[in-house]
Amino acid sequence: MQTQKLEYTQEVAESTASVYQKLSKQYKESHWQSLAPYIHEINRLKKEKNAVILAHNYMTPDIFYGVGDIVGDSLKLAQEAAKSDADIIVQCGVHFMAETSKILCPEKKILLPDLRAGCSLAESITAEDIRSLKKEHPGIPVVTYVNTSADVKAESDICCTSSNALKIVEALGKEGHDTVIMTPDKFLAQNIAAQTDIKILFWEGTCVVHERFSAKDVKDIRAANENVVVLAHPECPPEVIAQADFSGSTAQMDNYIKEHQPPKAVLMTECSMSDNVAAANPNVEMIGTCQLCPYMKMISLPKILKTLQDEEPEIIVDPEISARAKKAVDRMLELS
Ligand code: 13P
Ligand code: SF4
Repeated sequence: MQTQKLEYTQEVAESTASVYQKLSKQYKESHWQSLAPYIHEINRLKKEKNAVILAHNYMTPDIFYGVGDIVGDSLKLAQEAAKSDADIIVQCGVHFMAETSKILCPEKKILLPDLRAGCSLAESITAEDIRSLKKEHPGIPVVTYVNTSADVKAESDICCTSSNALKIVEALGKEGHDTVIMTPDKFLAQNIAAQTDIKILFWEGTCVVHERFSAKDVKDIRAANENVVVLAHPECPPEVIAQADFSGSTAQMDNYIKEHQPPKAVLMTECSMSDNVAAANPNVEMIGTCQLCPYMKMISLPKILKTLQDEEPEIIVDPEISARAKKAVDRMLELS
């Protein structure tokens, strides 16, 4: 990819000084001087084009704190996309997140800095799979994780994220369903099943990042770090959740650290999130897990700048599929 040569000027230093103050432990000054010109130029272009950057909690700190206007978990990014009055949304996250923004804001230009930024969960299931499940289990509602394509959402009854999955399943229970199908993450489904009386049928998808954590990892971390608080994302295997002190979406883990300020903590999730949490909570020693999502890590400052300059790659969703997928996403947002 061709990248623009940008200079670290006095103006750049001044406009990025407050961000660097927060991130000085994460970036050496020489490294920062190569990042700051991108941050400055991206922020200038955002204003010029009435663009907004939605950045997921797994973005690296230079993106998360430097250029993200709205940061958070999948649920918050979807809620904020729906409210935004920007003309352009640059999704700093993965493809399904950008598609969700397009479904919620069909009139806006939605840009994703690298179209290859997918998700192993989204790749594990197709619209045809959902149609087959419905034929096999007539009358049983399909709850689909937002980590899926628009086609898959369009065939589903309702979406969920990791922060509202239990609420959604219980809401279906109140409507009289004693069984639901949860796709595609089997661990999320199993972890929700452990908290409800509603029977959950699950699909065999997994997240390539969270499936790698084991109960032994938690045991080893505790052995090496006295009094460490262990937080785990619900995409982790149930044996990990059983050993953790808290389980929740990326935003829920972030809130836990903000509120409880434990002296030492580990997040059993994607590693950039630990860096972002560490920067916001200087009194908490964060133990990194070194697990990186290969898809999330495809997003970088040079790619974000190029995307804003060229206004591509743009996310397009077939309007008929988008309208059907929106019903499942809207139903989730109403219940959140
Ligand atoms: P959150 O909804 O918790 O942000 O999770 C999204 C994701 O992709 C986790 O791997
Ligand atoms: Fe998908 Fe896992 Fe990456 Fe999240 S961390 S985007 S679930 S592969």
